Amino acid sequence: MKTFYVTTPIYYANSLPHLGHLYTMVVADTIARHKRQQGIETFFLTGTDEHGINIERAAQRNGRTPKEQADYVVSYFKKMTAEFRLDTEHGGYDMFMRTSEPFHYQGVSELWRHIARAKTPKGNDAIYKGHYEGWFCAACAEYKTEDEYAKPATAGDPPTCLIHETLLDRVSEDSYFFRLADYGDALLELYESRPDFVRPESRRNEVMSFVAGGLQDLSVSRLRTSVSWGVPVPDDPEHTMYVWFEALTNYITAIGFGNEERERVVGFEKFWPALHLVGKDILRFHAVYWPAFLLAAGVEQPRAIVAHGMWLDPVGKKMSKTMGNTIELDVLNRHFSIDAIRYFCLREMVFGQDGRFGYEALIDRTNSDLASGLGNLSSRTLTMIARYCDGSVPSGFISEDKLLLAKRAGLDTEETAISGFLEHGRDQFLQHLEAFAFSKALETAWSVVARVDKMISDAKPWDLAKDENQKQTLNAVLYRAAETLRWLCVLLFPMMPNATTEIWNQLGLGSSADAPTPARIDPAKLKWGELREGTTIGEVKPLFPRIDKVKTMKEINEQGQEAAAGGRSDEASSTANASPTASGSESVSPPAVIEQSASGSGQHATEADAGAVGVTSFIDITDFTKVDLRVGEVLTAERIPKADKLLLLTVDVGEEKPRQILAGIAQFYSPEQLLGRKIAVVANLKPRKLRGYESQGMLLAASVGEEGKPVIATFTEDVPNGARLK
Ligand code: MSP
Repeated sequence: MKTFYVTTPIYYANSLPHLGHLYTMVVADTIARHKRQQGIETFFLTGTDEHGINIERAAQRNGRTPKEQADYVVSYFKKMTAEFRLDTEHGGYDMFMRTSEPFHYQGVSELWRHIARAKTPKGNDAIYKGHYEGWFCAACAEYKTEDEYAKPATAGDPPTCLIHETLLDRVSEDSYFFRLADYGDALLELYESRPDFVRPESRRNEVMSFVAGGLQDLSVSRLRTSVSWGVPVPDDPEHTMYVWFEALTNYITAIGFGNEERERVVGFEKFWPALHLVGKDILRFHAVYWPAFLLAAGVEQPRAIVAHGMWLDPVGKKMSKTMGNTIELDVLNRHFSIDAIRYFCLREMVFGQDGRFGYEALIDRTNSDLASGLGNLSSRTLTMIARYCDGSVPSGFISEDKLLLAKRAGLDTEETAISGFLEHGRDQFLQHLEAFAFSKALETAWSVVARVDKMISDAKPWDLAKDENQKQTLNAVLYRAAETLRWLCVLLFPMMPNATTEIWNQLGLGSSADAPTPARIDPAKLKWGELREGTTIGEVKPLFPRIDKVKTMKEINEQGQEAAAGGRSDEASSTANASPTASGSESVSPPAVIEQSASGSGQHATEADAGAVGVTSFIDITDFTKVDLRVGEVLTAERIPKADKLLLLTVDVGEEKPRQILAGIAQFYSPEQLLGRKIAVVANLKPRKLRGYESQGMLLAASVGEEGKPVIATFTEDVPNGARLK
């Protein structure tokens, strides 16, 4: 039997699930369901990436052991997959991989040993011991070269990651290296000989030019004293493996590489090679490092590496909590059906490119394409069969003597016109699906919806029903519509498994336990006319009720405000935000937030905090929202003659022009210390003049000690200018 293996990236166990994760799951799930329809034995792997300094630090912040931290995050991923029906129980993934599993340690050690024994194409040892000196970004889990970081404003400070804008760690220690530099030619040969290895084409080109530019050897271990939460290097437990080396290996250890038990249960021999679905931000690891490790180990290469783009907000900005432009999974869950979300994700993002995700756009698409489109076609067809045909599928046959009448009613009497259209549409749809062009595939399917809708509107069954002579025409129209629906159920099942199963049942096709379901019908084998006359349809229920945009947006906004006001009690449910960064690897929310969820209420932590600092009178949230707090970036800073306490700053708060702000901090901060700093600014403070200069806002600082030393409030994470603090 043919087999197929598809993987999602494994998600960092320092951060709660968000839209980016949901998206990769939906795409992989769609691919897996399509393969299963074709009768191919499919294995769909997802899971969590649980080692490394990032997880260690998140655990520390939250007062947990790394394993507890991982367990905590895993519980939210499992909740997300269950809520969105992506788990095994609902026909989704086959295995949730965790890299803290002992079999993974075993498998990954086996791979290391293979590589450690290998010679590179240039005859050198593939792994060697050396000394690493350089900068490491914990959030990217990546060593950074000079062009990948921003130099510090003050000499001696660490540089900043260009992606996360967080400070880099200095690493200077003995390390094992993988001799990546020797694999450039072999990799280029691989990309040349297999043009479909990295997809889409634009990403393949990027990867090829990166490799052609020359590769450097890769540090693949850390001292256990620096990173203890990792897989020990075989025969040298003072070192732990570089997390990417070990995380990538999950794709083979999960199915049995280096472990007999897993081999028996799943089967490396049976399922490898895999199709790896990844975000474009982690393409280099998958398309360069991973193939190089496999080349060295003598293990077959993956089937393909397919990279998707990133979700941005409706105006094309990165999503972040501070910007208030995130998509919350529990808002999605509360207001939208799972299949509407799946449809939107697959339809809206041109695969490979970045896409924009906004609640309003989701409502619009749900209403236009689903409520008025597929949902309406289904309900009008079935309602008319119930009303005009006593609830059983009529015959599509038109006898010779009625052909003219049918033509007069506006029906194309050649049934092949519609069946041919459908067959052609199906073939196109499948081509797009195989090429991961989900958006185009759906567009094609919706051209079928439009065509059948038009057939119904032209023939006007409600008029035909009044004329006994037109009974056959009426029946033919309804049969064709119902048969098209049956096809659409099968075609669209991988993308919208819930709605299509519902339509299938409403068509009366799921009545017996052994009846085939869209999950098991190969769309390529669909034949026109296989919907049997006389099939009793089921109860007709609305599939995609229209969403009242104004009301729903109001509810969504209120929910957002409540969350902000109540300490975001939803923060640690499976509803975390879409990643603010391209890599999605930002660390988990601060401890207070985590604990709020642990106690089940956001309010407790907030009250406790307030009590702790002795706040005696409370303000209402509406009082607080009167203050417009914004993130600003200090562009210039200078002293003011004869004013030894004041600094004159220009600050970019995301407006057209930077603001001029005077700050009484000159005795504690030099102008140079402030350049480029991200600060918090009260943006709606009435401007006032000081020493002849207008101050257009105020920066926030803690007042420390008896002398009230100002310590400027700043941000340690990626945050755009102008983002609102709330
Ligand atoms: N742990 C690594 C992957 C190791 S695979 C051997 C990792 N984890 S992640 O949790 O940061 O990201 C997981 C996936 O989510 C990545 O494919 C990433 O591209 C995807 N997304 C994160 N944010 C995203 C968006 N805003 N939009 C779409 N996908 C995004 O990287």
